[in-house]
Amino acid sequence: MRLAWLTDIHMNFLSPVSMNRFFLMLKESEADAFLITGDIGEAPQVSFYLKRLENKLQRPIYFVLGNHDFYGGSIAGVRGTVGKQAGESRFLSWLNEAGVVRLSDTLGLIGHDGWADGRCGDYEHSSVEMTDYYVIEDFDRLDKARRLKKLHQLGDETATHLRQWLPRALAAYPHVICAIHVPPFREACWHQGQISNDEFLPHFCCQAAGEALVEIMQQHPEHQLTVLCGHTHGEGTAQILPNLRVLTGGADYGTPHIQQILE
Ligand SMILES: [Fe+2]
Ligand SMILES: [Fe+2]
Repeated sequence: MRLAWLTDIHMNFLSPVSMNRFFLMLKESEADAFLITGDIGEAPQVSFYLKRLENKLQRPIYFVLGNHDFYGGSIAGVRGTVGKQAGESRFLSWLNEAGVVRLSDTLGLIGHDGWADGRCGDYEHSSVEMTDYYVIEDFDRLDKARRLKKLHQLGDETATHLRQWLPRALAAYPHVICAIHVPPFREACWHQGQISNDEFLPHFCCQAAGEALVEIMQQHPEHQLTVLCGHTHGEGTAQILPNLRVLTGGADYGTPHIQQILE
């Protein structure tokens, strides 16, 4: 089983020529399946890009959505469209709705979109204004306090999903991969070779998800969890517990690549 992991592919930045080059590179990877940890495109085209990936690759594509996938739309709107599409598709699996996926006898996969929940770093004094807050309908006209409430709610939703599905995955597999767009730990918020600072961390880290993962993995010392994430576009690894490792993928707009082939 060869699983090619991709993240932050931002297909809206690809010209027709680079799009074809990208598809060719994926085909030639000889992966049995693909995993995309979000930021596939933007709301009006994310569904179209998924359709093209599926048509070109004809192999299972597991994915979660990133914040950019909602740009120009609403969270519920995009999730509704993509959920319906994946439900009707032979190859597409959206991990928010896929439960525990069997990759091999010893390896299971779970995942959730995830959202930076404003809890890590210093939200109150942060002057970072993510584009999210202006181009995703859910944040429209929310002041800083109401926006934080929304961020908490989105992060909690991911933590609830992980609390529901990770124990089930661990009951069935000794090793589990968890895909989430946003790094769930400060230590995994790599940006240009460094951990992001308190200005950026509220917008880069899903702390509620990290707390859920630590709590569950401490109860399962014989099991291994590998978290795959993106969002910060900076590559790095963080060992959070002896049995909990996080890989953050690096990305540049316009040049999507395979992060790793996991065997
Ligand atoms: Fe991204
Ligand atoms: Fe992102």
